[in-house]
Amino acid sequence: MKNGKKYALLALLLPGILLLGACGRTEPAPRESAAEPALENAGPDAARPVDASEDLKWWQKTIAYEIYVKSFKDSDGDGIGDLKGVTSELDHLKALGVGAIWLTPCYVSPQADNGYDIADYYNIDPAYGTMADMDELIAEAGKRGIRIVMDLVFNHTSNENRWFRESRSGAENDKSDWYIWADPRADGSAPTNWRSIFGGSAWTYDETRGQYYLHTFLPEQPDLNWANPAVRRALGDVANFWVDKGVGGFRMDAITYIKKPAFEDGTPDAGDGTVSVHAMTANTEGILDYLHEFKAAVREDADIFTVGEANGVSAEDLPDWVGPDGVFDMVFEFGHVNIDLPDEMNWCETRAWTLPELKSLFAASQKTTARTNGWYPMFLENHDQPRSINRYLPAGADRNAGAKALATLVLTMRGTPFLMQGEELGFVNVSWPSIEDYNDISTKNHYQFAIDEGYSEAEALAGVHRFARDSARTPMQWDGTRQAGFTTGEPWLPVYDDYADYNAAAERQDPDSVLNWYIALAALRGEHAELVEGSYEELFHEDERIVAFVRESGAGRAVVLINLSTEPARYDPSCVENAVQLLGTHGESEKGVLAPLEAVIFET
Ligand code: GLC
Ligand code: MG
Repeated sequence: MKNGKKYALLALLLPGILLLGACGRTEPAPRESAAEPALENAGPDAARPVDASEDLKWWQKTIAYEIYVKSFKDSDGDGIGDLKGVTSELDHLKALGVGAIWLTPCYVSPQADNGYDIADYYNIDPAYGTMADMDELIAEAGKRGIRIVMDLVFNHTSNENRWFRESRSGAENDKSDWYIWADPRADGSAPTNWRSIFGGSAWTYDETRGQYYLHTFLPEQPDLNWANPAVRRALGDVANFWVDKGVGGFRMDAITYIKKPAFEDGTPDAGDGTVSVHAMTANTEGILDYLHEFKAAVREDADIFTVGEANGVSAEDLPDWVGPDGVFDMVFEFGHVNIDLPDEMNWCETRAWTLPELKSLFAASQKTTARTNGWYPMFLENHDQPRSINRYLPAGADRNAGAKALATLVLTMRGTPFLMQGEELGFVNVSWPSIEDYNDISTKNHYQFAIDEGYSEAEALAGVHRFARDSARTPMQWDGTRQAGFTTGEPWLPVYDDYADYNAAAERQDPDSVLNWYIALAALRGEHAELVEGSYEELFHEDERIVAFVRESGAGRAVVLINLSTEPARYDPSCVENAVQLLGTHGESEKGVLAPLEAVIFET
């Protein structure tokens, strides 16, 4: 029996325990504890799994999709995407097999960092709609088997948050110790030489208090003081407020920076004598205690998942961070997104890398998570990263073929795939002619940093073209009409000029489109449970062109072969002897050789 059918049968037999979702995936049994060890979800005995996929939680079997709310769909013509817009396009996501939507922050915010500066965790920014719109989105998504995942920005707030306004009002108030305050040095300068991740000093002087406050990111994003138990309790309350709203999980923003070490100067890593705050404060001793406390504070019966943004956590650290003994269900590691960028601040110095290196990074995480019973969020893109087609493929690679090859990697590797909006349509980086054309404050700061370090304007701009976060944030392209159907007004960020060819409506019609390839892969995950639940074993590690692996479980054994180069690539075909092709980008694949950018999945 095909697994899809087996699931359907189970759903009939076990009403209330399994709900049939899109693509024959099983949806969660309600009310299972997120605190339980992954892969050991028992549930009532009657629901004891018939195969391993029944052991997995709903979020391990689904596909997650990041929505940059500001750029997804505008419902009221103000040029800014909003929650009603998201609700209106849920069917696009359902067709993609998406079961979890990570919404970028849509709380009240002055938007210094596009919502990652939160002024009120309990309310929706009017630009994005109302709490009623949010309730409607949660409900409408729920009807389609989709859960909403909120972005919890807990390392810092906005400087307009009332907590901060109170804190900065003087040294004697309830919240005086809710942020990181420190006295100036004798000469009045900042307490340490730390440089914020977005450039400039990580300290800003406040006249009223006569002290400096720390900000890992912008001056408008003061860091919260997690050492204060009242702060930790307040943040736990925020999480539970959203749990009670019925959300399906949390993405924990910049979470590796919450524990501050002693305020000491670091060895400078830039011409101006500063050192990156990341080098000084990421993943420091004691952070896990705070996070275990947070995990315990989130309602235990909540059927949710957590995924931490974990810059500074490597594959070796994973056992402390994910799995039964860890603090989150998954973490986004930065190994592969930093593969071409030795110094995150310096966009002008890139590093040549090889495919075996990239594969080693994935393999290390895969091995550790499997060993510790943890889980992995597979991603190549998000709202902070350039588009994967530009980053991971050789120059001159065919765009559509390349997009499909990368899609195959993301959707067949072990773990929950996280897609960035537009990735499913084959979006590429924008290359606007001037730094003035860019919106993102961090992009502007990186450009300025390059100029200050002595690079030419052309060099600095080339770095921007390669790494600007704006490339992931251009408006979603829904159809070939004006502004790509994103808005009836003027979009806050220009629509990319390839929208006549790359838009959801056109790609839905074209059987060979990138979008339809994603849909086919999502369906295949529903039919071949080994692609979801199976073990992961790498093949041909040293091969410079091919990424290949085996996914195996009681449900079957799939061999995935992807040529990420623009040359034909030969391989030893014994791994696919007697195998049947399930899906391929280039029609029937000749065993033993892959065409440039060909991806194929065999069942053995
Ligand atoms: C995270 C977010 C990024 C934001 C930063 C500060 O890295 O992903 O977009 O700018 O945190 O909140
Ligand atoms: Mg709007």
